[in-house]
Amino acid sequence: MCGIIGYVGFREAEPVLLQGLRRLEYRGYDSAGVATLTGANLHVRKKAGRVADLADHLHKHPAPGCIGIGHTRWATHGGATDRNAHPHLGGKGDIVIVHNGVIENYAALKSQLQADGVVFHSDTDTEVIAHLIARQDEDDLVEAIRRVLPLLKGTYGLAVLSLREPGVLVGARLGSPLVLGIGDGENFLASDPSALADHAERVVYLDDHQLCVLTADDWHILDRDRTRITPEVQPLVNTAASLDTGVFSHYMLKEIYEQPEALENALRGRLDEANATAHFGGLNLEPQRLRQIDRIILTACGTSYHAALVGEYLFEEFARMPVEVEYASEFRYRNSPLDRNTIVIAITQSGETADTLAALRESKRKGHPTLALCNVVGSTIAREADGGVYLHAGPEIGVASTKAFTNQVAVLAMLALYFGRLRHLSSLQGEQMIRELQALPDQIRRTLSCHERIQSIARQYAWKRNFLYLGRQYLFPVALEGALKLKEISYIHAEGYPAAEMKHGPLALIDADTPSVFLVPRNSVYDKVLSNLEEVKARGGPILAIASEGDDEIAERADEVVYVPQVADHLQPLVTVVPLQLLAYHIALLCGRDVDKPRNLAKSVTVE
Ligand code: G6P
Repeated sequence: MCGIIGYVGFREAEPVLLQGLRRLEYRGYDSAGVATLTGANLHVRKKAGRVADLADHLHKHPAPGCIGIGHTRWATHGGATDRNAHPHLGGKGDIVIVHNGVIENYAALKSQLQADGVVFHSDTDTEVIAHLIARQDEDDLVEAIRRVLPLLKGTYGLAVLSLREPGVLVGARLGSPLVLGIGDGENFLASDPSALADHAERVVYLDDHQLCVLTADDWHILDRDRTRITPEVQPLVNTAASLDTGVFSHYMLKEIYEQPEALENALRGRLDEANATAHFGGLNLEPQRLRQIDRIILTACGTSYHAALVGEYLFEEFARMPVEVEYASEFRYRNSPLDRNTIVIAITQSGETADTLAALRESKRKGHPTLALCNVVGSTIAREADGGVYLHAGPEIGVASTKAFTNQVAVLAMLALYFGRLRHLSSLQGEQMIRELQALPDQIRRTLSCHERIQSIARQYAWKRNFLYLGRQYLFPVALEGALKLKEISYIHAEGYPAAEMKHGPLALIDADTPSVFLVPRNSVYDKVLSNLEEVKARGGPILAIASEGDDEIAERADEVVYVPQVADHLQPLVTVVPLQLLAYHIALLCGRDVDKPRNLAKSVTVE
């Protein structure tokens, strides 16, 4: 989703801004722009399309100056056009801003401004903020911004330049992340620390209602009353190595292949063989308090929601605790009766998803203990939850989440083990779970050897327009995830379903052109899924089965079989999801899609 980069220092800003924007591309966007400042001139350059299109434009029309702001826009209000791209000018062109987030009351504000004779040059909500700041009778930029912020209803991460204070870059945050990068004789502002890689070694994350003021040699943070805050300065974790695709043609493929190692990182130091349990450094909840918890709510969006669904089965089986899984976007507005011994666990790769953050805040407000399973260190959700577990998957750049899902499921399995061992789970069962988890990274390595087979299957199926993904129990969420992967990156319609539910509707869709991907490894429901498979076969639907190594019987029933290692039922999501990720990847490639940056989608969804 939208990205911000800002620079003030001794170098030309344009290349720094462009590099930052390239680092932000993975978030998903449809236009990009920069503004720089020299003397009494603002230089605004913006283009619909990719950062490369903006770079071409800048080649012909450079933006000079050692201070500037840049933006990648994911359209919300107004189409993806040059005029709606950020930055936006306010007043007589003496203020320029970039904005992440959504201003919900922009229409009312815009009408008032238009009634006062203000002429708008875009359809965006953002332009309202630029005009409001410009209209403040105030040379002090911080003061002008401070007066406008209370008028805005919604969320913002802002970066602002003014001709009235030419060497100053001001940022403001409410609900949309901003991070300040500290350099030597130069300072940076970004919506995402990955934009600061190569530039800053130390960073400060802004909190809501804070402003930051940057000059080349100085920076400070202010609260909404303009009181200076002493913030925590943190080292920037160097992610530069992960920010290129290496030997792989896409980030998605690289991240699929990183899964065994990512999984090792998630497990490292967390399996306690002596006590047959798992342990975590940051739960911030004493075992006694956890023992009192009698209900778990898992809340998330997208792929993380599918991991949460696997978590439901895990907690119920191993911790014998009632679990509900909620879409964060629904949960945040629901008035569900939760008793005081309910824990709310937010699951998120980015730690910035607006709905997940809102669900977490609402749960905290109601007084529930909260945990977050996050991948991005220092993200808003990681900082706001009472406690949490980092996923340690490393930076995930491809919009379609892969290794984060694997690590989310692995962390949920370890949490289920831990909660289970606080209750009835025996040490023998705990020891067995540990052994199974330890064996997983190698089993996923082995699973990756199905790559070539998947590639050839993809060639046969890439031209179909509808797919069904079917599984039961632990593999029902994987069916949802497989269908989501295909939809996201190939734009082919796919649905995930519990295999036995087919009879209640989707079976009507089956014909020779509608393949069904059956998740049918050997497990407690193997025979049941086989019967469901026969029901589809009897109606002429092509069948691709994901089955356990050594299962020869299935080869006679399915059109194609991909074999995965035999693992315990509860860990089957982790080995069966890998061929589905690869299948989506290869079908998308054959369809000519931009795999890492699918149309209309964003990596980090920071608006509602
Ligand atoms: C977006 C991404 C998905 C992701 C979802 C939730 O839709 O494209 O890959 O699963 O957001 O994101 P989160 O960062 O909260 O896991």
